Amino acid sequence: MQPQDTNTVVLGDSAEDVRLARLAHRGGGLALVDATNLAWQEGPRPPRWLSRRLFAGIVADLRYGETVTARACLHISDLLKDSAAARACLAAQAADEQAHAALYGRYLDRLDVPGRVNPGLEDVYQRCLAWSGHPVALVLAFNVVLEGEALRLQRFLAQRLSCPLFCALNRRILMDEARHVAFGRIYGPARLAGLDAEQRIAIYRWLRSLWWDCSSLVLGGLQGPSGTLLRVMQPSLDAFWRKQSMTLMRTGLVRKEELVQAERP
Ligand SMILES: [Fe+2]
Ligand SMILES: [Fe+2]
Repeated sequence: MQPQDTNTVVLGDSAEDVRLARLAHRGGGLALVDATNLAWQEGPRPPRWLSRRLFAGIVADLRYGETVTARACLHISDLLKDSAAARACLAAQAADEQAHAALYGRYLDRLDVPGRVNPGLEDVYQRCLAWSGHPVALVLAFNVVLEGEALRLQRFLAQRLSCPLFCALNRRILMDEARHVAFGRIYGPARLAGLDAEQRIAIYRWLRSLWWDCSSLVLGGLQGPSGTLLRVMQPSLDAFWRKQSMTLMRTGLVRKEELVQAERP
């Protein structure tokens, strides 16, 4: 896959268009080019306490998330009729995610252990793509909630694994992911302002259910002694959700006074 030519991004008139076009301009799969400078010849060096099979499963999940997100970007782009700059962001993001998937795949090949994708994750992503309501919910699902979860996992692993190649790879990928989350935070507020409280709260509950299932699956996949160790290193899911919830509130999905109602099942 070749990095996308980002010189074709068209600047719009509004402040939002300008911010989005700047984001799009910085994306487009450049991680693939930048990663050629990494020390691939040294190969993966995960810590001895971590089972290679478990680690391969985690990397396979990350790669799967990147691949599905690339597909989702193109799907969401078809639905966003109101902003050429937003569609440009999603096209650039799709190329970024394909580059990330290729890089995780390359790392996985060098681990030389088959990595099996957590089967439940496929169900969560399919549920996500099946959403038929307002498309801003899909932007929040992929660009805020699932990206946020992947960011958390990538940062967590990068801090605890001593593999220089994995850490360098993640540092480069995280530069793109931070921009993808920024897209959701810029695009979301104006569309959410046009929805009534009932619609916004329904989206909040849908996102919470997706996030909860996704995070439970990732934690549940941490099996064996090294999996137990990784699990106990992490704070509770409740603590993670509180952070996600605050991010969604800042994006305008729920207001402070609506939060108690939104948190009801
Ligand atoms: Fe990514
Ligand atoms: Fe991303």
